[in-house]
Amino acid sequence: MARLDPHSYADSAQARTRSFDLSARIDFETRTLTARVTLSFEQPSQGTLDLDTRGLTILSSSVPHRLHPAEPILGSRLELTLAPGTKSVTLEYRTAPDASALQWLEPAQTHGGKQPYLFSQCQAIHARSVVPCQDTPSIRQTYTASLDVPKALRAVMAAAPLGRTEQGERAVEKFEMPQPIPPYLLAFAVGDLASRDLSPRARVYSEPGQLDAAAWEFSGVEAMIHAAESLFGPYDWERFDMLVMPPSFPYGGMENPRLTFLTPALLAGDKSQVNVVAHELAHAWTGNLVTNSTAEHFWLNEGFTVFAENRILEMLEGAEVAALHAAIGRQELVDAFKQFEKQPGLTHLRTKLDGIDPDEAFSQVPYQKGYLFLKTLEQAAGRERFDALLKTWLKTHRFKAATTDDFTDLVEKLEPGLLAKVDAKAWLDAPGLPQNSWAPQSSRLAAVRAQLGRMPEQTEGWTPAEWQLWLEATGRPFQHCAELDARYHLTEVKNPEVLVSWLTLAAESGYAAVLPRIDQVVSHFGRMKYLKPLYRALAANPQWLPRARALYEKLHRQYHPIAQQVIGAIVKT
Ligand code: BES
Ligand code: ZN
Repeated sequence: MARLDPHSYADSAQARTRSFDLSARIDFETRTLTARVTLSFEQPSQGTLDLDTRGLTILSSSVPHRLHPAEPILGSRLELTLAPGTKSVTLEYRTAPDASALQWLEPAQTHGGKQPYLFSQCQAIHARSVVPCQDTPSIRQTYTASLDVPKALRAVMAAAPLGRTEQGERAVEKFEMPQPIPPYLLAFAVGDLASRDLSPRARVYSEPGQLDAAAWEFSGVEAMIHAAESLFGPYDWERFDMLVMPPSFPYGGMENPRLTFLTPALLAGDKSQVNVVAHELAHAWTGNLVTNSTAEHFWLNEGFTVFAENRILEMLEGAEVAALHAAIGRQELVDAFKQFEKQPGLTHLRTKLDGIDPDEAFSQVPYQKGYLFLKTLEQAAGRERFDALLKTWLKTHRFKAATTDDFTDLVEKLEPGLLAKVDAKAWLDAPGLPQNSWAPQSSRLAAVRAQLGRMPEQTEGWTPAEWQLWLEATGRPFQHCAELDARYHLTEVKNPEVLVSWLTLAAESGYAAVLPRIDQVVSHFGRMKYLKPLYRALAANPQWLPRARALYEKLHRQYHPIAQQVIGAIVKT
């Protein structure tokens, strides 16, 4: 008996799910799914089987069952008892109206304003609030699904669509996911959705009123898939479709296979955030093909993906642009180290997360420290040799779960001595940023850095990336906020990355004139990357803390359940 994952009741001695078949009736009135799932096992099994659940009401079970009391992070263990030779179990259940993986939106929270909307977000451990399952990435599963929705709405899934049938006021949409996935990649959305093809294998979905903007912003996606394939090998998921989410989506993007979810904040009309698409596309290799076995090895997903994202960007937009993005990332890492001053363990690449909620451990550390570790290895080995190593990594572990040791074992085998040369131990199992880190360098970067700490004068030709970097890296408090805004009209900027970087700098500098604009931003967007720094900046100022609390009180019901938890913790401390 051994747990496979600190965040799951799954046990190595028990039956292992190979596939599941889910059918769910989606009810917007009660905000629940009434569902039936059949889990089929790798082998006929017997004895105890522990499943993960959160907030589920079990209506029936094909085998004896016992639902244990809820634990704060893990949820409720559902203990099943299998007779010898059991090949599958079937459960009927209902989800809770506050299921942590689901956000139910009123029509007013959508772009069109007429129809309700529902979407899922299962990473890291929220799939269990939608389906009782072995909710660990170390157990990959295929699935089929059927969603019963109001006829006026369309359902999409991160899976292959098998067709829609309508009956009366309802419609049933069927899907199949033939490639085995970790449960956190289960994903669906229901709403007033339209779509447009961008290439034979890429299509964008959004609400009808946003489709033109979305098709324009992401028109380069096929070139991006091409670039990625030339770097990492054939794309294994057949289609790369994208879904533009409502503004309350808590992330910039989520790499759901075949159907990446993207925040509408990317529709800035300037193609300045296509790196997010590159990032989610790169996950098709790093993360979705080779998957972290538990959240303790999250850097294997995100560090590798930032590395891959940057390579795609370098290929399509050149080394200067890639260096600017790397520099923005490095600044975000510095901020993350500050945040975790009292929890230095969370700044290791390999973490210990027993008793820690992955949503609370989330930060830019696995992304940016992971990226810098890989760049440092690349620099020491040479690009050609490191590329070969990466390809072997992807080939050896495709469609499998991997640990940090799997990676270091491979490096030691292919490049003996390389780990010692870069002091890999310091990267993996110690806090902060090792001295020997690779650092981005470029002329555009130098031009921005030369102007930190004072009013920027040479800003001609600055792209949003340069502005973002300057705003994030300049020292606080910045004494000339009013003058800066008068000169460059930052409060009116459309690009949300630049806007949020500006508002954060201004708030951290005590510049009160931006407060109304901050209210607007945190009222419109639910992306945590925007909410967190703005709420933090308000909460850190004793004069503005009541304002932060009042804002949160007013808005929290329209935030995603995960954002409520994360932002709630910021305004309450
Ligand atoms: N997989 C992540 C999002 C995520 C991580 C959701 C952990 C839940 C738990 C996704 O690929 C991601 O990293 N998104 C970034 C994009 C950025 C790095 C380009 C984001 O949302 O900002
Ligand atoms: Zn990612």
